[in-house]
Amino acid sequence: MPEETERLAADEAGITRAAELLASGALVAFPTETVYGLGADARNGLAVAGIYEAKGRPSFNPLITHVRDIGRAREIARFPEAVLPFIRNGWPAGLTLVVPLRERSGISSLVTAGLSTVAIRVPVWPPAKALLKAFGGPIAAPSANPSGRISSTTADHVMTGLNGRIAAVLDGGVSSAGIESTIIGLRDEEPVVLREGAFVVPDGVLRVTSPADASSHVDSPGQLASHYAPSGLVRMNARVAEPGEWHLGFGDIKGNATLSHDGDLREAAARLFAAFHEADARGVERIAVAPIPDHELGRAINDRLRRAAAPRPSPGHAGQRR
Ligand code: TXA
Ligand code: MG
Repeated sequence: MPEETERLAADEAGITRAAELLASGALVAFPTETVYGLGADARNGLAVAGIYEAKGRPSFNPLITHVRDIGRAREIARFPEAVLPFIRNGWPAGLTLVVPLRERSGISSLVTAGLSTVAIRVPVWPPAKALLKAFGGPIAAPSANPSGRISSTTADHVMTGLNGRIAAVLDGGVSSAGIESTIIGLRDEEPVVLREGAFVVPDGVLRVTSPADASSHVDSPGQLASHYAPSGLVRMNARVAEPGEWHLGFGDIKGNATLSHDGDLREAAARLFAAFHEADARGVERIAVAPIPDHELGRAINDRLRRAAAPRPSPGHAGQRR
């Protein structure tokens, strides 16, 4: 982890440096028109795991993928008819769309938390656009603040919360909107507002999901007890596998596959959802997971494992959750 966070001006040299750092797998906070994002290469699971580590975030919520233009967005996701009106005249400021992920998108499963959809956004703020252009790839980014604290709208805010925990912050002045993006997703092929934010939807045009409403669907991941589960049943804190279990190891516990040989929490986080997918692909019915230390990034891993291990609402439901 870096000792000191570089403060980069949003000029050519600063943008080039920020792009180099991202390409090396480091974390760079950058300004958008809504709030500052804490960015990592969205294709690099280890880098994305670093986001959770730096924020001290105790659970893996899926992250927004930031791309340069609509063409790049289409390489990663499919855009059903119903969302096209929103981007007909270009991607508007402060809007995020949750749409179906393409199979070979290259996006780390830690970004989507293993879901089949992806939250995608094209920022309009010039420093963000310049960074996306220089970097050339998709950038995953939640708001650039320690977990549980308010979002940052200046580079100073970012420094206050994350100095020493990230490689750099690109100083692009004050975010004009100062509030997170509006998130619109699809429910039964109809657009619905999943989170209100900077992009203003005229009153009454779209349904806004209430938390209670959302909790019965996949759209509001953080609120479900049982979620992101693989098809197989999950058992936690398993030092030894029982007959018929597929054992996911960690550190000294080898297992059939391991989250991290070296007991590295960041590597384990980066591999977690991919391991669930692998279990599904193998048709595994019962997964035993080795104990994961419950500190730092381990808390987020255990949060997800608890959700995966939680009682399932009804038979057959597990298959729909993927
Ligand atoms: O303005 C913003 O949106 C900022 C800037 C940096 O882009 N980002 C931000 O990210 O606020 P974050 O991580 O704080 O919020 C992202 C939200 C989460 O509530 C997450 O659950 C939701 O997006 N989300 C991401 N992917 C999703 C998906 N596939 N389905 C449903 N919700 C998703
Ligand atoms: Mg946030």
